Amino acid sequence: MSEPLILGIESSCDETGVGIVRGYELLANEVASSVEEHARFGGVVPEIASRAHLEAMTPTLNRAVEAAGIDLNEIDAIAVTAGPGLMGALVVGLSAAKALAFALKKPLYGVNHLIAHVGVDMLEHGPLPKPTMALLVSGGHTNLVKVTDIASEVEEIGTTIDDAAGEAYDKVARLLGLAYPGGPVIDRLAAEGNPKAIAFPRGLTARHDWERHRFNYSFSGLKTAVARWVEIRKRDGEEFAVADVAASFQEAVADVLTAKAIDACQFHGIDSLVLGGGVAANSRLRQLLELRCTEAGITLRRPSPRLCTDNGAMIAVVGSELVRAGIQPSSMTISAYSGMPINQVSV
Ligand code: KG4
Ligand code: ZN
Repeated sequence: MSEPLILGIESSCDETGVGIVRGYELLANEVASSVEEHARFGGVVPEIASRAHLEAMTPTLNRAVEAAGIDLNEIDAIAVTAGPGLMGALVVGLSAAKALAFALKKPLYGVNHLIAHVGVDMLEHGPLPKPTMALLVSGGHTNLVKVTDIASEVEEIGTTIDDAAGEAYDKVARLLGLAYPGGPVIDRLAAEGNPKAIAFPRGLTARHDWERHRFNYSFSGLKTAVARWVEIRKRDGEEFAVADVAASFQEAVADVLTAKAIDACQFHGIDSLVLGGGVAANSRLRQLLELRCTEAGITLRRPSPRLCTDNGAMIAVVGSELVRAGIQPSSMTISAYSGMPINQVSV
């Protein structure tokens, strides 16, 4: 069979994404974001996100089809984010995907958003080694996963026991009076600060955490530590450099994320690591991970920052793997699955 031509639709949060791939080749990746509509609320407002998806879906689809230079009838299958994500937002993408699948008489694949963040790397670096470890860091999730086969066999090795890494970025940005989303803002500001200025805590890295939480993360203590540090300086009327706080916070996040990912690879005897999720765009995380992987003899795969945040191409490329693996399409009656677990690749 020649490489499958797949249309992917993403609508789990605040980005309406439509991507088109042929096998591992990216043909189009159009994204419409409602992030600015949420900014003044300091976080995504589900109702606003759903409405924005509704408005953006058809124009984004049209742009993607035009960019790819294809006819919709040529498509082999439609892949769509089934979950996890915001219920109302997911429903918009699913409805669009079902309508297309029905009208074009093509199979439908309901795909896991988190697995797609891991799989997007295939668009730049080809098929994933089997097995590979994956570090997934997004606004809602932080996971270490062992990917034996991205179409069918994924196992969770660790997760956050409280906040996700991206969530910590967003919350810390907010308490520093910075804009939403906080990740890119802190990333930029940190470049002007001293990462060693403040020794913020590294969650779940103490000796006694090893037994139960060796591969788990925790960022809520770090967020509280930053809040307290800032509060005390403000109370005492002490001047401080916000860039130093940003850089020190970022260093703490990157340090734990990378240390545990390397430990998980070594513990499971896996010499390949793939990075994914919105926070994977972070410059310090990318740099430190590369350094530590090289030291440990682990081959690192990092998708370009533009592919790390939510998009439709990541959904499409997982769809392409599902088709290639001969996985059965989803039913046309599938529902949005807001709590879809990470070990379930498709529905
Ligand atoms: O994966 P994603 O686009 O959406 C979810 O599925 O959650 O991730 C969004 C998260 C936000 O928390 C945002 O602040 C964070 O990714 N983010 C970053 C950077 N760019 C986006 N965090 C740190 N550094 C960045 N450069
Ligand atoms: Zn995401």
